[in-house]
Amino acid sequence: MADQPLLNTYGRLPIIFDHGQGPWLFDIEGRRYFDTFSGIAVSGLGHSHPAVTKAIQVQSEKLLHCSNLFHTAIQHKLAQELCSYSGMDGVFLANSGAEANEAAIKLARLYGHGRGIDAPAIVVMERSFHGRTLATLTATGNRKVHAGFEPLVSGFIRVPFNDIGALEAVASSNRNVVAVLLEPVLGEGGLILADEQWLRDVRKLCDQQHWLMMLDEVQTGNGRSGQLFAYQHFGILPDIVTTAKGLGNGFPIGACLARGKAAHLFKPGHHGSTFGGNALACAAALAVLDTLHSEHLMQRARDLGTRIVAQLEKAFSGVDYVKAIRGLGLMIGIEMTSECPELVPLAKTQGLLLNVTSERVIRLLPALTLTDAEADFMVERVVRIIKLYAGDDRQRPRTPPPPEGRRGTSH
Ligand SMILES: Cc1ncc(COP(=O)(O)O)c(C=O)c1O
Repeated sequence: MADQPLLNTYGRLPIIFDHGQGPWLFDIEGRRYFDTFSGIAVSGLGHSHPAVTKAIQVQSEKLLHCSNLFHTAIQHKLAQELCSYSGMDGVFLANSGAEANEAAIKLARLYGHGRGIDAPAIVVMERSFHGRTLATLTATGNRKVHAGFEPLVSGFIRVPFNDIGALEAVASSNRNVVAVLLEPVLGEGGLILADEQWLRDVRKLCDQQHWLMMLDEVQTGNGRSGQLFAYQHFGILPDIVTTAKGLGNGFPIGACLARGKAAHLFKPGHHGSTFGGNALACAAALAVLDTLHSEHLMQRARDLGTRIVAQLEKAFSGVDYVKAIRGLGLMIGIEMTSECPELVPLAKTQGLLLNVTSERVIRLLPALTLTDAEADFMVERVVRIIKLYAGDDRQRPRTPPPPEGRRGTSH
């Protein structure tokens, strides 16, 4: 199907989806595909989760929207829950990850101006991804994302990820820095985990320099890492944390959470969003937070992540085409030794939706609600496809039947 009349922003696979259930997506002909990356870390509870569906249904009969010139109880409830789970003091509700990051960038600039810095600068990381608006694409550490959109926004300084020396060098040479923005796991940048010590050192440096420590948890947040927010693994508290993606399980919502001095910077007129904090989005997010906690899905993400990584390590031990396997919770990367874009269409022919990022990292971001049987099925298929692709089918395991209980024709 041609993209027309959609503008040509995505290289889409030729599948037309109709509906989803758990980890499965069904096309208009009834064929089903196993979704290994949850719509890029969005459908963490699986597709059509009944708690989210119900919350949206109930809220849609009460109120969709009333503008941010008034209060709604549901918006306050969501803000309160997000603060109590995160240790933050206040929330700006937006509609996407990029918007949540825009709010963080604006907070950092306001903070700088409040300290008498006329041209505040934010330190950002190589290989990062923060969104597609002009400020967030500038913050992004990927030339391909910048190309064609110059002039970029001023006020960003880039350093290598996991390198405290580079940050200290910036601290000693630049008086305009007001904040550091980083992802605890580089998602688009190839599933690279921040070192725990580095994160602690960044926190310490931010305290010493009076910089804001800002974490982009758009992808790592909402249980995916095995904690509600990834920083909760590391015993640090940022000043600002942004999130989106899994927060609405598919309903668009983003949030910029702030603590301490950062929570008191915005005044009426500084920032806003017509749809931010929309009642339907809040209902979806409350259902997600409730389900993550009541079904112990953070623990489940940790357990499943450990199990999946162990299975992958076993399956690929000693092979020369897999360079590394790494993960945090249910963010798992299989780094190949060479670029592997053809894996995606190959996986499609086997009924598997696969994502390759940074040219050679297969990124698994499955639903946190997978059963053991579904997780085993996913691993078996992923291993089989990678071996097939690498021409290594010496010890191809027997295919287990797909897990029962979801409608549709399987491949
Ligand atoms: C870490 C991170 N930040 C920001 C974004 C942008 O989010 P959105 O596409 O919702 O604007 C993404 C999207 O992939 C992301 O992974």
